[in-house]
Amino acid sequence: MHITRFLHSGLMPALLGRGLLATAASDPCVQVAGLQFVDSADAIACQKSFPFNETLRQNVLSVISRVFDFYTFEDFYLNSPPPFQESTTNIRAEITRINSTHYATDYDFNRDLWDFTTQLNDGHTRWLPNCYNSYENILPAPVVILDKGIFIAPDSVELLNQLGSGFTAFFAAKKFNWQRLAGAKVLTIDGLPASAYIDNIARTVSGNYLDHNVRVNSVVSSYRIANTDFSQRVGDLAGQLFLTQTSLKFSLIPVSSTTPEFVDVPFVADFIGKAFTDGPSYWTNNCAANDQTNGVDLRSRISRVSRSRPRLTRAVLMDPAGQPKTAVDLPGPFLPTLSPTNGSTGVIKSFILPGNKTGVMFVGSFEGDFNQFPLDVGAAVKQFKASGVTNLLIDVTNNGGGYVCLGLFLHQFLAGTQAGFPGFQTTSRANPLAQKIVKAGIQQGHGISISIYAPDNWQFLNGTQMPLDFDYNDPSVPFIINGRNDPTSQRFEDMCPIPSVAIPTVPPFDLNKVAIIGNGNCASTCAIFTTVMFERHQTKIAVFGGNSSQSIQFKGTAGNQVIEWVELDTEIKTAGLKNDPLAPPDLLVNGDMRHNWRSAYSSFDESVPIAYVSEQPQYRFPYTAATYNNPQNLWLFAEKQIFG
Ligand SMILES: *[C@@H]1O[C@H](CO)[C@@H](O)[C@H](O)[C@H]1NC(C)=O
Ligand SMILES: *[C@@H]1O[C@H](CO)[C@@H](O)[C@H](O)[C@H]1NC(C)=O
Ligand SMILES: *[C@@H]1O[C@H](CO)[C@@H](O)[C@H](O)[C@H]1NC(C)=O
Ligand SMILES: *[C@@H]1O[C@H](CO)[C@@H](O)[C@H](O)[C@H]1NC(C)=O
Ligand SMILES: *[C@@H]1O[C@H](CO)[C@@H](O)[C@H](O)[C@H]1NC(C)=O
Ligand SMILES: *[C@@H]1O[C@H](CO)[C@@H](O)[C@H](O)[C@H]1NC(C)=O
Repeated sequence: MHITRFLHSGLMPALLGRGLLATAASDPCVQVAGLQFVDSADAIACQKSFPFNETLRQNVLSVISRVFDFYTFEDFYLNSPPPFQESTTNIRAEITRINSTHYATDYDFNRDLWDFTTQLNDGHTRWLPNCYNSYENILPAPVVILDKGIFIAPDSVELLNQLGSGFTAFFAAKKFNWQRLAGAKVLTIDGLPASAYIDNIARTVSGNYLDHNVRVNSVVSSYRIANTDFSQRVGDLAGQLFLTQTSLKFSLIPVSSTTPEFVDVPFVADFIGKAFTDGPSYWTNNCAANDQTNGVDLRSRISRVSRSRPRLTRAVLMDPAGQPKTAVDLPGPFLPTLSPTNGSTGVIKSFILPGNKTGVMFVGSFEGDFNQFPLDVGAAVKQFKASGVTNLLIDVTNNGGGYVCLGLFLHQFLAGTQAGFPGFQTTSRANPLAQKIVKAGIQQGHGISISIYAPDNWQFLNGTQMPLDFDYNDPSVPFIINGRNDPTSQRFEDMCPIPSVAIPTVPPFDLNKVAIIGNGNCASTCAIFTTVMFERHQTKIAVFGGNSSQSIQFKGTAGNQVIEWVELDTEIKTAGLKNDPLAPPDLLVNGDMRHNWRSAYSSFDESVPIAYVSEQPQYRFPYTAATYNNPQNLWLFAEKQIFG
């Protein structure tokens, strides 16, 4: 299979009879074309073969800079409050620096942008260039932090064998025995004590979460639900989307030994982009803008847009690092052995623990089928009640978020209709272009089917839907952070569709008998859900893992709504404002500059976004060899610890 692919890629340019014949010598992309698993150094050579281009820099920086005009948290970065100091960044100064730095290649320019936006530690706000996210760098040595120390994940053979024969053949050809490293005790990595190296990755590579220790948990391997299947992240140390490293030096003690030894572990680059045959086709297929890159003027497509269906707001993490795109399931031996209850075919998996006292709802995300999610919650709770369950354990490990209204729904279902509005007060930024978008939309009668900015997408704080002509950005409201005033919209709430299952009037379980467990990698809608449970009901929360001698937050990315570049550009075009001097240009490259567009304010202090309120769990537990990859073992442990 590899030989076929290699010949194919080698012969293609000649067969096509191009004027410029690419050869392996002059075009490093030819050498890796058509191959799934390649030396990271060879893949990097291909990615570095595109020279720096000033036109592209100006284009990309204009888009990024004008997207930041909409970023709710910009001013917090000037001096991020404790315990989030590590994220302090002067965003505008960074853009100016990158605008005047000399770069040899387009890769170098994009890497600088990648590092800058990654280190904002807000998974809602980052530059994702497809050109340099076309490989995933995989180290066959994922790491875990357990109660007894730092180890190569004991299940790494079962885990990584799932990547298939191409993966194992790659290392066999190098005569590198990665299998024998499984379970080894790790002493140092890259010359640093293992914990210091993990901290370094948390600081510079992981991104996504404001809290450092939440990022420590994202560096290491852990169980999760990916789409609707039990899965295991390899972690950010062993799975990276922007290729930079080619190998990593460990000192470790293998399971079969008592003597420390040094091992230089090679990375392998796993291709996840669009197929190519040489440098020019790599660029065309992976790097150049295509018809999906930029937004569209929905006014010209109105017949194709359902007029009745609102655009559902989302707050979800793109987990760009840390898990091979190639699906890696949780290895069979570690799957729950209990039978799932009704309502377990989607993103939620529910179980009744032996003894019928505790029901577990593993809520993998708030994505998937918008109407099925409430039905699944209803079905699981019905079965819990029928079996006499009195304790509810909600596992949100590695829940990356999803539909905002599903997070609010889950809270409302557990708290009953008596709890009132189930979410938070929110705002977006009322910058001059945002004000023009709302005004232009009102003039043209735009509603929720065509625009996120449309007033009827939101409700006033008294629960009444805004009328189509209510300009919530005029007057704007001053918002002064770190001495800078960037006004916001007036406050409003999410307006959610009526759920597909009836909300109970009273809580189905005593709210004191509801507990949430996870690893802090609880992003976006998950953060909204856990925070509202904690703030309104003092729900008990347990966080596993991290560095047990440092504090940890129970929530990760806590913005209320993310908007992708293509969505923001669609808003601008649909308002008829693409020619406005404040509007960003179309992107010339294939990438996404997403941003946190809306923030939610804490009910403890309604002047502070929940993202910047330090909220720590009542319980902390280390992972053990029996729980880091075994959800059922972890639930049994949590049941005993939390419910006695
Ligand atoms: C730089 O990129 C622009 C836009 O894609 C392109 O038109 C131009 O030819 C490139 N410049 C060079 C020197 O390759
Ligand atoms: C970058 O610098 C150039 C020259 O100083 C300036 O014209 C341009 O507007 C700057 N671009 C951005 C995005 O700030
Ligand atoms: C945990 O944090 C402490 C204090 O910052 C540090 O000394 C230690 O090395 C860290 N341990 C691990 C396992 O990360
Ligand atoms: C738990 O509930 C199931 C189904 O209702 C029942 O068959 C079983 O006997 C119960 N077990 C205990 C320990 O109560
Ligand atoms: C589970 O679902 C089936 C099919 O809808 C239904 O017949 C059964 O009563 C449900 N069981 C419980 C305990 O709710
Ligand atoms: C809700 O608040 C809005 C804005 O303040 C107001 O116009 C509206 O009349 C109120 N509706 C109700 C039912 O109180």
